[in-house]
Amino acid sequence: MCIWSAGCATGEEAYSVAMVMAELGALAVEVDLWATDLNLAAVEAARMGRFSVRRSSGISSERLERFFHPVEDGMEVQPTLREYVRFEGQNLAAPAFDAVTPGSLDLILCRNVIIYFDLPTIRALMDRFLVALRPGGLLFLGYSESLFKVYDRFEMIEVDGAFVYRRPLLGVARAKTTPVPMSPPVSSSVSTPVPLSVAPAGTPPRPAPSFSRLRPPDAPVPMTPSPRPSYLEQAASPPSRPGSEPVRPPRLTLEVSATDPRVVRTTEVPGGAKAFPPVERLKQAVRKMMQSDFTAAIHDVEKLLIDEPGHLDALLTLGNLYSLTGRIAEAREAFAQALVREPLCVEARIFGGVAALQAGNLVEARSELGKALFLEPTLALGHYLLAQVQERTQDRDGARRSYRNAIAQLRFPQRPLAGHYPDIPDSAEAIARVARYALAALEEEGN
Ligand SMILES: C[S@@+](CC[C@H](N)C(=O)[O-])C[C@H]1O[C@@H](n2cnc3c(N)ncnc32)[C@H](O)[C@@H]1O
Repeated sequence: MCIWSAGCATGEEAYSVAMVMAELGALAVEVDLWATDLNLAAVEAARMGRFSVRRSSGISSERLERFFHPVEDGMEVQPTLREYVRFEGQNLAAPAFDAVTPGSLDLILCRNVIIYFDLPTIRALMDRFLVALRPGGLLFLGYSESLFKVYDRFEMIEVDGAFVYRRPLLGVARAKTTPVPMSPPVSSSVSTPVPLSVAPAGTPPRPAPSFSRLRPPDAPVPMTPSPRPSYLEQAASPPSRPGSEPVRPPRLTLEVSATDPRVVRTTEVPGGAKAFPPVERLKQAVRKMMQSDFTAAIHDVEKLLIDEPGHLDALLTLGNLYSLTGRIAEAREAFAQALVREPLCVEARIFGGVAALQAGNLVEARSELGKALFLEPTLALGHYLLAQVQERTQDRDGARRSYRNAIAQLRFPQRPLAGHYPDIPDSAEAIARVARYALAALEEEGN
């Protein structure tokens, strides 16, 4: 049985699947359960398998007893359960998946991840997923995610009232002729020494079994729903002021005066060599970021900031790189510095919110996003991210309002944000589309 939890965050889904597999009688050696995420800090946390009392409150007492043991501040998965899962870093937007054998996967779980991607990125990812699945293999997306009018090479089937996608058994109906790269080696942080190691040195790669020994190929995989966080912080009232005249925000990328990143100039570096212009140096670092080579990207941006301390674009990007690698204190510091330079920096609040969200600090995330929206009420992304936080805190009414607000911002042109973050949707259309799906799902849940 070969399963991939793609975008596994801190591992709740992967461990849920592992528990189901164990309960069905599968041995760890019979299951290849691969769980990956872009965020190496999340991967590291997933590998540790520690869940606070609040986060483990939704697990049945039988499962807690069988698969966990208590630790000081919560519950930790037993080594026997951990044996079922391989946690690694993987950028789903990378052009090729070097670790995936075509046609080898029975099931891909990729829930609540493509909401972060724009359309071309989603389509390219679906191409790679399609090739990775065996014929008849299943793809589960999040409840509010759909490939309707986005990608039509999967079949949609209904299982117990839920819609899932399946690779057609007999070839792919509208198969493209372009081969999809699966195995050529790509630069990946998996083999790069990073502060948070992705795969422990010497971990032998597990063989990828191709066929299920547990169930017929088309039977749905019984799954427990991924545990929703049980934290129930009360959400603040939405920061936007519908009906009021939108305040035009400062255009940070274009109006940062002291060190405008658009200004092309070269920089003298120690040794007398002429470096590339700052814009080019940042672009190069962003390319490394997109390939998940965070260590090199951080190194490049840190160097750039030594030469160009006022480069806001670089500073925000560095904050994002720190947050993606779990260096939350440094990420906060970077965003705080951005705010010292530009007290009304909406991006510092947005990315500060995303960093807090990644770190699981929902109160801080909501506060930062609220501040961003106070400064720029027409920023669709801000409303969308706030809705995500509200959903996670079970504030459905707040989430509905925020999704509607995100959609309503379609009437305002959305500006590109300063600072870089992998695959964040930035066009009003992309955000409105994912917000509509999420809203529809919420409305349906409420009925
Ligand atoms: C909202 S969480 C969803 C986690 C889990 N799948 C679930 O449903 O509970 C989104 C996850 O996607 C990850 N992610 C975002 N962009 C990614 C990318 N390009 N490649 C891999 N993971 C990514 C984030 O780091 C985050 O952990």
